[in-house]
Amino acid sequence: MVNQEIYDKIKTWFDGYVNSFSTENKELEQNIEIIRDHSYRVVGLIEEFVEQANLSESDFLLAKITALLHDIGRFNQLIVHGTFADTDKINHSAIGILLLTEQESITNTLSEETKSILIECIRFHNLREIPKSVNERSLPILLVLRDADRLDNLELMAEYYSEHKSGFNKRLELELADNTNISKKVHQSIMEEKVVDSKHILGLSDFKLQQMSWIFDFQFKRSFQIASEKTYLKRMYECLPKKDIVIDMYRQMKIYMENQL
Ligand SMILES: [Fe+2]
Repeated sequence: MVNQEIYDKIKTWFDGYVNSFSTENKELEQNIEIIRDHSYRVVGLIEEFVEQANLSESDFLLAKITALLHDIGRFNQLIVHGTFADTDKINHSAIGILLLTEQESITNTLSEETKSILIECIRFHNLREIPKSVNERSLPILLVLRDADRLDNLELMAEYYSEHKSGFNKRLELELADNTNISKKVHQSIMEEKVVDSKHILGLSDFKLQQMSWIFDFQFKRSFQIASEKTYLKRMYECLPKKDIVIDMYRQMKIYMENQL
């Protein structure tokens, strides 16, 4: 069982851990703040799903813990490896899990079952598809975490793309080249109403389209409502090259979303 006291203890550890990365480097400092603020906003977004996800009080707090810690590996990935681009060798979920299993203040606070749910949620939070092997106790929490995380990523990136020229924060753009090319596979996935696979991303436009395609995996009506109210698709579309296939894809996603409201 998770209670408020456990959540507060983990939050204290999180704040201390993030503060340990204080740096004179403005760019690194800015990216550390982006991940910290994103983690806190995902915690806040969990509240949006309490009713629809039908979580117990304890699972609701556990969902907030997974939200706070889901990107904990990003700090190390950024400082040690200088990137946010996940590869087989440098993956922020794997880095985060390794880090958390070594933290006694976390491992001593949580029961074995709670720890395994937390770890499974972190491991699967950013996968294109949730593996069938997922534990049935983890699944409801994981579904909430994934929607909340993607909603905040859409918020963060829609704002970033509309406020800044490409190249302003290379790391947030995963160091991708900004050109008007769109991969055929990206187009195909979106027209089939599927989330774009990261292996098909060849440039920044593909990456923007992948982020928009997350709507195809939204699990809760509330997610469609928030995405619609905040006009994420439109704001992202306005930052893409005006090509016929882009207009096609935008229309496909817009209609899909309207049908879910
Ligand atoms: Fe995240």
